[in-house]
Order: sequence, then structure tokens, then C-alpha cells
Amino acid sequence: GTATHACFLLVLPLLYVCLSFTRVCSSVSPTSTGHALFLNPSSPYNAKVGSLRLRGGEDGSVRAGGDSGSSPPVPRGFMQRFLIKDVFASESLLIGTRLVVCGWARTIRLQGSGKFAFLELNDGSCFKSLQVFADPNTEGWQELVKNTHAHTSWRVTGKLVESPGSGQSVEVQAEGLQLLGSCSPDSYPLAKARLPLDFLRTIPHLRPRSNTYGAASRIRSTLAFSVHKYFQEHGFQYVHTPLITTSNCEGAGELFSVSTLMSKADTCYTPENRSWDYNQDFFKRPTFLTVSGQLQAEAYACALGNVYTFGPTFRAEESHTKRHLAEFWMIEPEMAFSNLQDVMENAEGLLKFVLKELMLRNEQDLNFFDNACQKGMKGFSNVSLTGQIRDIIEKPFVRLAYGDAIDLLQRSGKKFEMPAEWGNDLATEHEKYLCEEHFGGPVIVYDYPMDIKAFYMRLNDDDKTVAAMDILFPRCGEMVGGSQREERIDRLLGRIEELGLDGSSLEWYNDLRRFGGVPHAGYGLGFDRLVQFATGLENIRDVIPFPRATGHAMC
Ligand code: 4AD
Ligand code: MG
Repeated sequence: GTATHACFLLVLPLLYVCLSFTRVCSSVSPTSTGHALFLNPSSPYNAKVGSLRLRGGEDGSVRAGGDSGSSPPVPRGFMQRFLIKDVFASESLLIGTRLVVCGWARTIRLQGSGKFAFLELNDGSCFKSLQVFADPNTEGWQELVKNTHAHTSWRVTGKLVESPGSGQSVEVQAEGLQLLGSCSPDSYPLAKARLPLDFLRTIPHLRPRSNTYGAASRIRSTLAFSVHKYFQEHGFQYVHTPLITTSNCEGAGELFSVSTLMSKADTCYTPENRSWDYNQDFFKRPTFLTVSGQLQAEAYACALGNVYTFGPTFRAEESHTKRHLAEFWMIEPEMAFSNLQDVMENAEGLLKFVLKELMLRNEQDLNFFDNACQKGMKGFSNVSLTGQIRDIIEKPFVRLAYGDAIDLLQRSGKKFEMPAEWGNDLATEHEKYLCEEHFGGPVIVYDYPMDIKAFYMRLNDDDKTVAAMDILFPRCGEMVGGSQREERIDRLLGRIEELGLDGSSLEWYNDLRRFGGVPHAGYGLGFDRLVQFATGLENIRDVIPFPRATGHAMC
């Protein structure tokens, strides 16, 4: 019952973090260009890869390298099959080579009155499918003829040749086809093409097979890897801040509790005063899923200098918008000896860097989304996606003080539902006006009134604004929220008291100011909103594998 649930709460996010980090580590390749992507078999570092390759050669699946210097690429480490993306990346070097590819059939077409067949094989490594040609001489031909449905899975052995047909430059002439799994179109929910996104959302375990989610998933992966690359290349240390916390960093009442008490309600709950006995709880105190790793990241910045955390974040917001999730991923760098300007620079640099990497690495996926957007397909933003991304990379972001933003909105002559007024947070319509109508790009708004921002932000000399900044993006609204942190202990304590926060639970945080405190600053970037921006998908639930939002948690 609940105890098991609590265990899940504990274990799953941790697992996520571990997995994501492992994935990042293992995808590091010696270089990232051309066919050098393949591990060099002669390197002593790859002794293991070398032996695997030999085994592949014995059963004829992978050709051993020819003359040194011109040897064709071999599959990446630990695999006998080639990734289809690697086949395309090195197609001219691989022509004439026997190889193994595995994947799922997008389509199988029997032609020439059943004398030959074309199988479009997709293995998820890239958007494009590889064409496989088979005929009655192909081993497994009978199996193919009996299983021509979409999403049957296959292992194909054959020779890569120049394709005589149009539409693709190479194809595999199959020598052997092995059916790995059949797929009945009668019960398979994805048998029909072009299913609406809201239907696909009801089958989150199957939707990654569609073009849209496949492309979105690859884009998400590239962006995540690039985030690590940016920080690692800029002298930041990756810190794992806890997912179970005792404090509410942002000060809002939107926490998920982590507790084992519910299963013991008969002994732990007093109905008269509606109170739980936390002494009997797992941690002997109330604990929550984190809403931000910032406070703990600050502790590490005050020792390691520049750090970042990148992991899942939880907010029990009852919101049904297209840009809020209950479980989302946030990137939170924290920089010692830095001020607000420094973090603005860093955040702008990060956004430009990861989008540039994306343009380099995921061209086919981006073109797919660009097309969907330009055609105005349902669920996609009606924009020139790659044009917008290119603009972000090339043009400096506008920087605008909050007070000037309010003036600009008031003088805009636009009728807003919620009039823009000094002291109020910017509403979605204001953000839209600034980013989409007035400036046509991202806008960094800074120096917000202190009353609408969190307790830890540094008070400016005017005594009414804080050194905070938000980066507003077209289509997604607030992409980044950050600030310089209040490093003056007296002011920080004053603010904690003014806001009636539980000072005792923040003593550890205040210590960071008492013992060798330094000016420091940081920000949080909503990773899912970044993926939303980069794909043009309108609903944030379509950019995260298994979305969790109000009333919605599947699988
Ligand atoms: O502005 P927020 O609340 O800032 C913080 O949490 C700070 N502690 C960050 C820091 O300084 N280290 O959240 C940061 C970003 C937002 O700008 C938004 O992009 C994203 O996180 N975000 C959400 N994304 C998806 N769903 C939600 N419910 C989100 N709430 C915030
Ligand atoms: Mg914010």
C-alpha cells in the first residue's frame, strides 16, 4: 500500500538521476564528427571492442577492417549491429560491406506480384528509415511474406549497396531476415498513421514509436547532453542535490509530501486536532519532494565555486496550462563570486550553445518539426521553427529592467485583460506581447519588486527591488528564473522574519553567509520548456516521456 508508494517516491527519481547520468557518460565518444564517431578498433583502449568485432566478422555480420588506413567503420562498442544513423553517416565508406541492422518495420511493401519486397527499417537512432530489399532468395522470405505489418521487428543481415531506386541513396540487399516480434494490426493502437497528439498521450508507453515523439525524444537527449557539455566545458562541477527535502525553497504551498504515515493512520493521526505524529514518520519530521535544488546547490557553490544541478523537480500546482508539469526537469547552476550580470551572461550563453549543438546534431528531427509547424499542424506552433532557433543563436537577448517593461506595456496602446502595473507579476499576455509582438525574441527582465520574489534574492540599493532576472521566451513564457543571492546575513535574517518563514529550518542556509560568505548568483532553467521551444510542440506534456500533471500520471 502506501509504504510501497513511499518507496517508489524515494527510489524512482533517484533512479532517473542515475540513469540520466550514466547515459550522458556512456554517450561520450572520442570525437564527435564524421565517422570518427566509431571507436577506433586498433586503440588499446578499445581492446574489448576489438574482440567483439572479430566475433561479428566470424559469423559474417560485420566485415573485418581491410587495409589499414581505409578500413570501413565497424559498429560502435559492444554491438554487433550497426545503428542506422551510423550507416547513413558513413554510407559511402560502407558500400559493399556486409552488415547487421535491427529495427522495426515502418512499412513493408510486397511488389512485382510478390517477387520482391521493400522493408523500411527504423531503429530509433535517427529519423530516417533504412530501405531493405528482399526477394525469395533471402533467408526468411516466407516469414516476411506472412508478417508485412507495421512495427514488426527484424534482424537483417545483408550488403549495403547503392540504391537503384529514387528516394534514398543506399539500401540493404538482404541475405537473411529474422522476425524478432510480430505485431498484429488488429489490436496495435498505432497501426494507423497520423494519430492526434492527445490520443497518443493516452498511450505513453507506445508513443515514442511515432515520428513526433521519436524526434522529440532525440532532441531532448541532445539538449540534455549539451547542457552537461556546456557546464563541464565552463568549469562547473555537477552536484546531485537531494530529491527529498525539508524546506520549501520557493516559499509557495505547492509541495508533495514524502511520508510513510498514511499506512499507519490509526496510530499516527489524531482526528480531533487533525494532526499527524511525525515522530513516527520515516524521517521523524515532515519531508517533501524538492521544488528546487538551489539552496543545496548554494552550499556546494560556497565550496566548489561553480556548480550545477540538473534533475527532476516536483510542484503540486493545480494547473492545467500547456507549460506546467507536476514533475519537470530543471537545470540550476550556482556561481560563487558572481553577480546578476554574470548569470544573465551564463544563461544566455547556455541557451545559445545548446540550440547550436541541436542544429548541428539533429537536423532531420528539426526539419520534421519545422515542417509540422510551417504547415500549422494541430498541436504545433505556427512558426518558422528553425528560423526562430537561428535568431536565438545569432542575436543578443534584449535586457529590460522590470520598471521599464511595465512602462513599455502601459504605453503599448494594447488592451490587456490584466493591466500592467508596477508591483504585479507579469501575466502571460504581457510576456507574449514583449517576446512575440514587441521584440520578437527572448527578453531578460531584471530588477523585480521584492514583494513578488523569493526571500533569498539580493535587495537592491533602492530598497524595493531585488537583483532577480527572468528570461522570457516566445511561445514558452518564462524559461529561466534566477537571481543574485542575498549574502548579507543581517538582511537575509530580516527578510526571513518579515516573511514569517521557519527560520530554524534555514539555519544551515544562513551559515553559508556566516562562514566565509561570498557574493553569488544562480538560476533555474525549465528543461521541458526548452524542449518545447526547440520542437515547436505546444503542450509541455508532449515533450517529457511520461508526463505527470494534475489528474494525469500514466505508466
Ligand atoms: O522560477 P523558478 O520557480 O525558480 C526556481 O525554482 C529557482 N530556485 C531557480 C534558481 O534560481 N536556482 O523555476 C525555474 C524555471 C522556470 O523559469 C520555468 O522555466 C521552470 O523552472 N518551471 C516549470 N517548468 C515546468 N513545469 C512547472 N510546473 C514549472 N515551474 C517552473
Ligand atoms: Mg520564476
